[in-house]
Amino acid sequence: EKVRAFQKTLLNWYDQNKRDLPWRQDHDPYHVWISEIMLQQTQVQTVIPYYQRFMKQFPTVQSLANAEETELMKAWEGLGYYSRARNLQRAAQQLVDDYQGHWPTDVHELQQLSGIGPYTAGAIASIAFNQPVAAVDGNAFRVFSRLLEIDDDIAKPQTRKVFEKVINRIISKERPGDFNQAIMDLGASYMTATNYETAKSPVKAFNQSYLDGVEAHYPVKTKK
Ligand code: ADE
Repeated sequence: EKVRAFQKTLLNWYDQNKRDLPWRQDHDPYHVWISEIMLQQTQVQTVIPYYQRFMKQFPTVQSLANAEETELMKAWEGLGYYSRARNLQRAAQQLVDDYQGHWPTDVHELQQLSGIGPYTAGAIASIAFNQPVAAVDGNAFRVFSRLLEIDDDIAKPQTRKVFEKVINRIISKERPGDFNQAIMDLGASYMTATNYETAKSPVKAFNQSYLDGVEAHYPVKTKK
């Protein structure tokens, strides 16, 4: 049916067109985690060199847990939002002290770690641990609101749950991490905030708001 056809179209497109990014070389949870935190307030092209330097300097959870704070802050210089770096180190220490360095794989347990919210937990659980769970960021709000004409206001905190429910029904159970990353790539290419390239989109046949000519209406977001 339609969900299977969508998954297949999306994942085929991803296999042919996925961006070659340094954190996509393996599914190591440490690599996924650091990249996702860096990508939260910073663009992909800016993150790449920071990510590569960071992995040379702090290659493991243990090395991050034991890092000198001044070294860590210097590595973060230019990325901004330094609380992200402080939370990274706190979470690394939690992993070493409370989990003997073994990652929890459950999406709720991941959220017990410092600085890991629902989005980051979903990304780690799906990409590193193959759990079929949503990772709802701005890309997912944009892509799914347009595909399905979801009218819920994305500025409201309770709307995340609406999207999580919808995505948890649609996500590929075989390849959840690739599914979520395909949505990110779609949101960065054919379904951006301002640039409606949807006529060329690989999933345009599934894009209800495109078919109805109301794409510009989505996502619905009230001004705060
Ligand atoms: N933006 C947020 N997470 C990403 C990822 N894993 N790949 C590409 N862009 C992203």
